[in-house]
Amino acid sequence: MQELIKIENLSFGYPDGQQALTDINLGIYRGDSVAIVGPNGAGKSTLVLHFNGILRSNGHVKLLGKPIDDNNLKWVRSRVGVVFQNPDDQLFSPTVFDDVAFGPMNMGYSQAEVEQAVKMALGLVGMSGFEKRSPHHLSVGEKKRIAMATVLSMSPEVLVIDEPTSNLDPRGKWDIIEVLKGFSITKIIVSHDLEMVRELCHRMVIIDHGRVAADAKTIDVLADKKLLVAHGLAAA
Ligand SMILES: Nc1ncnc2c1ncn2[C@@H]1O[C@H](COP(=O)(O)OP(=O)(O)O)[C@@H](O)[C@H]1O
Ligand SMILES: [Mg+2]
Repeated sequence: MQELIKIENLSFGYPDGQQALTDINLGIYRGDSVAIVGPNGAGKSTLVLHFNGILRSNGHVKLLGKPIDDNNLKWVRSRVGVVFQNPDDQLFSPTVFDDVAFGPMNMGYSQAEVEQAVKMALGLVGMSGFEKRSPHHLSVGEKKRIAMATVLSMSPEVLVIDEPTSNLDPRGKWDIIEVLKGFSITKIIVSHDLEMVRELCHRMVIIDHGRVAADAKTIDVLADKKLLVAHGLAAA
């Protein structure tokens, strides 16, 4: 089976010299639901930003066999939707409609297609009727759903979502889990919430110190207390 996303020997350092990723190798297959877990500062968000070319890699990241580069970013971003950890980084328009319509408009959809895409995306995240609201006046949980809708409106093949349940109360968290459960597309979920991971992901990748420390079935990783403790995911 061909990988949707293939990462080969990816290393990345920030301009200030901070080495964030070292020799990452990872394949994401169609229909996968993969958790990327690891302690704070492990490199998870840095990795996620490579999935749709926000951070670029000189050919080390491929989508459907094609290296992600400056010339195919528009295509890449229509196929891979990345939801940032902080929804305030994703929402910048005066209304929810405008934010969710941004991707489809940018892709040159017709007015009718844009409206259809917004309706579909808001429906998927349970936020129909919020079109005219200001994203900045919503609760964190609502903002997170709208941030998800801004990428779902492009009908991506892969949804990458960075810490979907952080800063949510238990009800907000379980609401998001239910929403994510309803999506049949390929999912990459960054979190250290093992309860959510158990619910949603059949595979777990542990990132620690910028390296892949484990890549295995969720049930096997969760059963390995020593491994979880070693990477700060469980108390000793
Ligand atoms: N913009 C940045 N500039 C410099 N260093 C950064 C930047 N963003 C993250 N880092 C560093 O890169 C490493 C990985 O960070 P990050 O990918 O955010 O980890 P995680 O998402 O797992 O918490 C950390 O050491 C962090 O301090
Ligand atoms: Mg992060």
